[in-house]
Amino acid sequence: MDELRDYLNILKSLGFNEIFIDKEEKSVEIQEKVKLLEQIAQQIKNCTKCDLHKSRTNPVPGEGNPDAKLMFVGEAPGGDEDKQGRPFVGRAGKLLTKMIEATGHKREEFFITNTVKCRPPKNRTPTPWEQEACWEYLEKQIEIVDPKVICLLGAAAGYAFLKRPVKITKERGQIIKWNGRILYLTYHPAYILRNLQAEPILLQDIKRAIELAYSQEEV
Ligand code: URA
Ligand code: SF4
Repeated sequence: MDELRDYLNILKSLGFNEIFIDKEEKSVEIQEKVKLLEQIAQQIKNCTKCDLHKSRTNPVPGEGNPDAKLMFVGEAPGGDEDKQGRPFVGRAGKLLTKMIEATGHKREEFFITNTVKCRPPKNRTPTPWEQEACWEYLEKQIEIVDPKVICLLGAAAGYAFLKRPVKITKERGQIIKWNGRILYLTYHPAYILRNLQAEPILLQDIKRAIELAYSQEEV
């Protein structure tokens, strides 16, 4: 890794702003990512690290582009997600999908997951301990997908990354540098279902997160 970094820095100092990876090489890399993500999904399926495994019907590891520049992280699977084993497919999920489409993009371009992979009873907020137990899976997913931007949907997602309480109304829309990536906090779509006046803000934040993810600017 260090050698590669040095080599790239030399190229950069010579004025190269882009390098082109062979298409075939890229497709091998993506196949590898798919395989690694499947391994994690399998580990999640067998996981009993926290009590949430007792109340789940299906675990919800997450889904989407294994090579996404932008990852969305929600709080936890709800009832519909638990039934289908897929993230953000209920009412809040439909709103998220609609908003992504309103920006001219598709949800399949991105990777979508949650701070915990099993549904908490009665959809309560996952505890910090449960988030901690599940963190290793999210951490690995981030490492594999390697997104430039991670859009955190709601305070519970904020807590999982920043390990402190966050106030979304105050902290949303800021660029938070984190391990060579950008964390971008915004409202949870379920909050928008209860507070429709904030819908344009969520839309604007999603648009901004996508722009940041696709911009050539380095973190
Ligand atoms: N659906 C999810 O997958 N996550 C949430 O946080 C809410 C709904
Ligand atoms: Fe394991 Fe995460 Fe499910 Fe807890 S929520 S049982 S840590 S997969």
